[in-house]
Amino acid sequence: MRSHYCGELNASNISQEITLCGWVHRRRDHGGVIFLDIRDREGITQVVFDPDRAESFAIADSVRNEFVVKMTGRVRARPEGTTNANMRTGEIEVLGTDLEILNAAQTPPFQLDEHQSVGEDVRLKNRFIDLRRPEVQAKMRFRSKVTSVLRRYLDDNGFLDIETPILTRATPEGARDYLVPSRTQQGSFFALPQSPQLFKQLLMVSGFDRYYQIAKCFRDEDLRADRQPEFTQVDIETSFMSEEQIMGMTEDMIVGLFKELMNVDLGTFPRMPYSEAMETYGSDKPDLRIPLTIVTVSDLMANVDFKVFSGPATDPKGRVAALKVPGGNALTRKQIDEYTKFVGIYGAKGLAYIKVNDKSNLEEGLQSPIVKFLPVAVREELLTRLDAQDGDLIFFGSDSEKVVNEALGALRCKLGEDMDLYTCKWAPLWVVDFPMFEETSDGGITAIHHPFTAPSCSPEDLKANPLTALSQAYDMVLNGTELGGGSIRIHQSSMQETVFELLNISKEEQEEKFGFLLDALKFGAPPHGGLAFGLDRLVMLMTGSSSIRDVIAFPKTQSATCLLTQAPGEVSEKQLKELSIRVRKPVVES
Ligand code: AMO
Ligand code: AMP
Repeated sequence: MRSHYCGELNASNISQEITLCGWVHRRRDHGGVIFLDIRDREGITQVVFDPDRAESFAIADSVRNEFVVKMTGRVRARPEGTTNANMRTGEIEVLGTDLEILNAAQTPPFQLDEHQSVGEDVRLKNRFIDLRRPEVQAKMRFRSKVTSVLRRYLDDNGFLDIETPILTRATPEGARDYLVPSRTQQGSFFALPQSPQLFKQLLMVSGFDRYYQIAKCFRDEDLRADRQPEFTQVDIETSFMSEEQIMGMTEDMIVGLFKELMNVDLGTFPRMPYSEAMETYGSDKPDLRIPLTIVTVSDLMANVDFKVFSGPATDPKGRVAALKVPGGNALTRKQIDEYTKFVGIYGAKGLAYIKVNDKSNLEEGLQSPIVKFLPVAVREELLTRLDAQDGDLIFFGSDSEKVVNEALGALRCKLGEDMDLYTCKWAPLWVVDFPMFEETSDGGITAIHHPFTAPSCSPEDLKANPLTALSQAYDMVLNGTELGGGSIRIHQSSMQETVFELLNISKEEQEEKFGFLLDALKFGAPPHGGLAFGLDRLVMLMTGSSSIRDVIAFPKTQSATCLLTQAPGEVSEKQLKELSIRVRKPVVES
């Protein structure tokens, strides 16, 4: 229908007769002449209709925003003084000769250029209109380029794109499963995959050597800005490659992606052991753009006359740690109170602080509600250890190690953002040497990555010291976001059984849930390993978006619903009957 896209036209098209199809972006009546801005995927062109051509002028007069139109006309240079350097088509306009309304449109629920004042709920409910906004379109186009560059890299490196089932059994990645009832086997359920983990391992056993898939994954978990119940992984698995080789190759892929699409050089990614990340940054995904570090001071506080500190300082599971904020002396009481509230979200019961007014005067130069509890020698060692200067502020966390790490880790990021402490735009790293397991609140143990990850030690050593054993897992982190994670897998059934036992999965349960994997490991499984990137998170970071919802065409809300289609929805009694399902509705208390 069209000869050109709207956004394509420029001075080289002057005098050509062209046909455009698109949406009326804006209509302006300039005393006798009508200007229509016509928009399509590629941009906007200004079209002028004058009353000489009565028929098209009348139609132009009748169209409204978001009408779908087709127009023919001749390209001409804009009159001097009316060019628009901010528009790709700003040098030209089209003198319209014919105009046809292909479809009228009701007044949209919000204007496309006024989205700032429109709530996200309204935008998601009308996502088909929201997606017309040029900035949202730009993000979707960028996403498409990202997958295309990644596919090209993987194709060029011998990876085969192989699909794995969506209707499957539970794949444990630590979240709840989405279940699908079976009609043919009543009372039985499929689970949607939390990741293609087990299938990609089986593909290695089958000898495909290098696999990838842009794979939909489903996890019923608490949602946040960087989590959706259904999201996309760039999922990768290889055989006969070491941890080092897999990390090297995937790093090369991401470096190439940033270079090609953004002309950003990410450099060589530093490696950081998990223990250092937790100790120094309070997080297994440290944001290295922020120069603040967390320093343990438990040893200094073991004997102070302040229970809040001495308790955790002498508890093997406790921690007292300090976070120095250079120039933080300027924070007001009100700001400190707000930060105290903020760390409360992570379970911290308070946020002690010291303002360093004059470090040469340890008696009176430190301003703080707790300094009276600290002997002068402790004050001195504290300032030395933190290399504190006049004008600095020191925050303290004292609690279980978990609470202190989470609270100070989050505070570090918040201060970085609030005080704009960023030292660079991009800070990638690998976090390595993860422990195999961590303790759960009920005293059991759970896999930190997933139960198919290989330990760095023998089955005997693993059994003897499960909580200190390290795994061959690695996470790629960018600007404080976990972009991807992977590991070398267990490829021997005896080791896999050991891990299942440690996780308290009985022989029967192993057989029932993972019998096919244990079997496969007995029939010539090669050493293998891989990794999966969160595509949504990658595109979110690259486009500077604040949520992955902004880079997903049809995202769900924080409560895992789709406002557009109203999913999830009720189903008919007939469908339930076919599935032998009777629904027990939760009793709503009045
Ligand atoms: P993992 O569970 O770490 O590993 O997931 C890999 C990456 O997927 C992204 N991600 C998510 N993105 C959006 N919403 C979610 N709910 C969500 N959950 C995870 C993250 C994460 O780094 N099978 C293993 C990979 C492997 O071992 O090869 C796995 O799924 O960016
Ligand atoms: P309190 O003795 O409760 O008045 O607390 C004295 C100071 O210690 C206040 O600044 C509190 O915010 C701080 N504080 C209390 N509990 C903790 C904790 N667990 N970690 C860090 N600071 C705390």
